[in-house]
Amino acid sequence: VAAASKVCRGCGLWRLGTQTVFGEGPTPSRMMLVGEQPGDQEDFAGRPFVGPAGELLDRALAEAGIDRSQVYVTNAVKHFKWEPAPRGKRRIHAKPSGLEIRACRPWLERELTLVAPKVLVLLGASAAQSLLGSAFRVTRERGRLLTEYSFAPSVVATFHPSSVLRAPDEAAR
Ligand code: URA
Repeated sequence: VAAASKVCRGCGLWRLGTQTVFGEGPTPSRMMLVGEQPGDQEDFAGRPFVGPAGELLDRALAEAGIDRSQVYVTNAVKHFKWEPAPRGKRRIHAKPSGLEIRACRPWLERELTLVAPKVLVLLGASAAQSLLGSAFRVTRERGRLLTEYSFAPSVVATFHPSSVLRAPDEAAR
């Protein structure tokens, strides 16, 4: 499935990204984490959550006593969507549209089938939108164990590590 995703042309984002960044981890796995989309570093590395958000995620997992190598980690969207910085060469993260999230969902569904997680953790609004619909509000529902979805016996949505990194100060973080 990962090999097939490398030539996906399901939306226009393949033109922007360097490569498809598919999920990685054991299949099956008890836990699956879904982020939004690869960032700048993930786009070059071809692996999810290896940049600053990944470092924070690793720290959070370690503090929770969870071994990342035992967890399947992926994104709702498999290509990096970005805009050029107004000045300089930096690539600035751009939020994927509903259409792009929907175009990528068949890959996420295949991953869910193969990983068959007991616990599915959705990191941020795009992951939640992909699987729970756009009316779902992470800010309101975060941390609540959801047992009514067919994707996994337990589904939990929470903040995306990047939104924690964007918080203005340590207290807010
Ligand atoms: N943010 C995400 O949502 N996914 C990544 O892989 C990296 C940053």
